[in-house]
Amino acid sequence: MKERLQKVLARAGIGSRRAAEEYIAAGRVMVDGCPVTRMGLQVDPELQQITFDGHPLSFPEEKVTVLLNKPAGYVTTMHDPQGRPLVGSLVKEPGLRLFPVGRLDLETEGALLLTNDGDLANRILHPRYEIKRTYQATVQGLPAASDLQSLRRGIELEGRRTWPAEIRTLRRRDGDCTLEVIIHEGRKRQVRKMFAAIGHPVLRLKRVAYGGLRLGDLASGAYRRLDPEDIRRIFQGGPAPG
Ligand code: URA
Repeated sequence: MKERLQKVLARAGIGSRRAAEEYIAAGRVMVDGCPVTRMGLQVDPELQQITFDGHPLSFPEEKVTVLLNKPAGYVTTMHDPQGRPLVGSLVKEPGLRLFPVGRLDLETEGALLLTNDGDLANRILHPRYEIKRTYQATVQGLPAASDLQSLRRGIELEGRRTWPAEIRTLRRRDGDCTLEVIIHEGRKRQVRKMFAAIGHPVLRLKRVAYGGLRLGDLASGAYRRLDPEDIRRIFQGGPAPG
């Protein structure tokens, strides 16, 4: 795509557009080997070689983070030897290589972040930030209040105690019930293992919030780009009501 030369220089981090115009006027910019001093030349940085003081321009990749409502049946990896559908196939951001932040099980639905910002991904996953993950878990039967209390306090799972969890009942039905479960650990299949441990297997699991960032009314399989305010919400205490 063609753009004005001074805009391309600014995008490559050379300086402001005003500064770029001065560099052009000073003959420090070459396009396909020829010095360009004329303002406003339209160039295509994908197809043409542009240099500043003899150095080719490089463009820092735009940092993009998206929130996807992962449907059940999609794998949270970039590649699957079994050929199952990949979460990446739902995110159409040409030219950007977005990778999932953490994982959700094949059958788990809901909030999944994908980003090309490695530092942000590390901060989100680092236990130091204790980011709360909020799930809605539909489990078989009606767990006894005492069992829920032991899950809240923490139970032994594979030789390691779980951190305290917040659990409240959202809905009771014949044969199953739906609970809100808030944990800040990301152990593999943790919610499923916690409820299996008290004899109430998880029938359906959906992550509805990441810190204070809620999935909201995002349709299953849809995603949206996050803005800086959304990113701040991830690091905020708990999900806002609603
Ligand atoms: N806990 C689970 O059991 N599964 C998930 O996908 C996420 C949390």
